[in-house]
Amino acid sequence: MRIFLIGYMGSGKSSVGKVLAEKMKLSFVDLDDHIEEQEKRTIPEIFEKDGEKKFRELEKKYLHEVVKRNHTIVSLGGGTPCFFDNMDVVNRSGISVYIKLDNEALGRRLAKAKKKRPLIQDMTEVDLQYFIEANLEKREPFYLRSKIIVTARELDPQQLADRISAEVGKLQK
Ligand code: S3P
Repeated sequence: MRIFLIGYMGSGKSSVGKVLAEKMKLSFVDLDDHIEEQEKRTIPEIFEKDGEKKFRELEKKYLHEVVKRNHTIVSLGGGTPCFFDNMDVVNRSGISVYIKLDNEALGRRLAKAKKKRPLIQDMTEVDLQYFIEANLEKREPFYLRSKIIVTARELDPQQLADRISAEVGKLQK
């Protein structure tokens, strides 16, 4: 069993992933954390020193490592499914779950959590809302290739984990 959590920055992939892993008795790995541990530097440091292109190469490399882990839930970075053939790799390796949230909700959540995210860290709230709209339009076709799609609005991580585990159960019948 392998589950991949997909969604825009701020959609709650990591929080849900931890709850879901506990509920389903699986291990949990956050791809961003794994990259930082392996590279021994933070994502903002990688972006700053080597640029986004290099980050995407590293992201791909470490994705290939984590997709091989069994009995694991992996939360991906918001951009992971949208580069190279990453979404094919994910869909070949396990069950992909898109955690879908609307632009306004993402904007509200990200306004409070920009610092760790180099793509948006210097934006004003207005710029951030425009950026999310344009960027999500480009990214969503990739996200929508997920095997399961759940709408996260009004659900806390526990409720979302319950919903995802029910959908995974249905897929396996
Ligand atoms: C990114 C999302 C981040 C991280 C990096 C780039 C993106 O992960 O991988 O800052 O391109 O959307 P989260 O989705 O966990 O914030």
